[in-house]
Amino acid sequence: MRRTRIIGTGSYLPANRVTNADLARKVDTSDEWITQRTGIRARHIAAEGETTSQLATEAARRALDAAGIAASEIDLIVLATATPDYTFPATATQVQANLGITHGAAFDVAAVCSGFVFALTTAEKFVTSGAAKRALVIGAETFSRILDWNDRTTCVLFGDGAGAVVIEGYEAAGTMADQGILTTHLRSDGRHREKLYVDGGPSTNQLAGHLRMEGREVFKHAVGMITDVIVDAFAATGFSAGTIDWFVPHQANARIITASAEKLDIPLDKVVMTVQDHGNTSAASIPLALDTAVRDGRIRKGHVVLIEAMGGGFTWGSALFRL
Ligand code: ACO
Repeated sequence: MRRTRIIGTGSYLPANRVTNADLARKVDTSDEWITQRTGIRARHIAAEGETTSQLATEAARRALDAAGIAASEIDLIVLATATPDYTFPATATQVQANLGITHGAAFDVAAVCSGFVFALTTAEKFVTSGAAKRALVIGAETFSRILDWNDRTTCVLFGDGAGAVVIEGYEAAGTMADQGILTTHLRSDGRHREKLYVDGGPSTNQLAGHLRMEGREVFKHAVGMITDVIVDAFAATGFSAGTIDWFVPHQANARIITASAEKLDIPLDKVVMTVQDHGNTSAASIPLALDTAVRDGRIRKGHVVLIEAMGGGFTWGSALFRL
């Protein structure tokens, strides 16, 4: 059977690193409060004029280099973002142009923090069906642009960045020993909009808006939703907390990650955690964490990796693959 495998990862962070101490000079907060409640110690903030498509293009170039293929070999770009350069055209088309690609298709996916899982799942359907040969799947955000810097309950949590993977189709044996994406599970429930949203948009008030969040409510739902799609991933593949090699969760908050891992009996030494260095970079967080662990040698070819995310909508999802 045809399957889709990941053949390269890449990521990019803006140069400007802002520590909790730096933030505490501008906002009524402290390193102690942020570290204790979230595990975050620093985040990167895009420079003036540095756009989501620029971060995405750099991450994509690094993923292409890692895969050892030329941009011209890509015939699909699916980019997840909640902070596009413009209302339209899609940020993916700007990345396509930056990479000099003039064939195939490029489009954006909006699922906020779950965006990368939604984008990977979408691209995988194209590649597995044969509709595309090789795709770039990118999560890229400049969340700093939609933060209310006077709201200390949200502005300390997020950061900017981008991560990307290159995927390609191949003929697999059709067993769970195959390389590639073995299962994906997506969910959403629009009744939860008020708990996490941006109070602006072209059709509503013609503004870009600011992020609004009921943090405790999000926390309350997060662990259950994450568990739900991971149980589905295990049931579909026969893998378990004991047999996966790595858990690469959405990096929102160290407490959510730890609570989810403990509930699922996933040992903490199998968990890739980068939220301390990046903050919550929304759709970029999983490919950033994945690339970090691939480049530092933890995640290697043949390893079984479980990813999951939950975010605004609410949306949530998981994917399980062998690298
Ligand atoms: N610095 C100092 N004090 C603060 C700050 C801050 N940055 N923010 C809030 N406080 C104060 C509050 O004013 C409050 O003070 P009070 O008791 O005098 O009223 C106190 O800290 C406690 O506030 P809570 O909001 O109750 O704090 P909580 O323990 O719930 O932690 C947090 C807040 C970290 C946001 C937590 O609810 C959380 O992690 N929620 C999950 C949200 C999340 O991760 N969202 C990411 C997007 S969704 C996703 O990616 C899954």
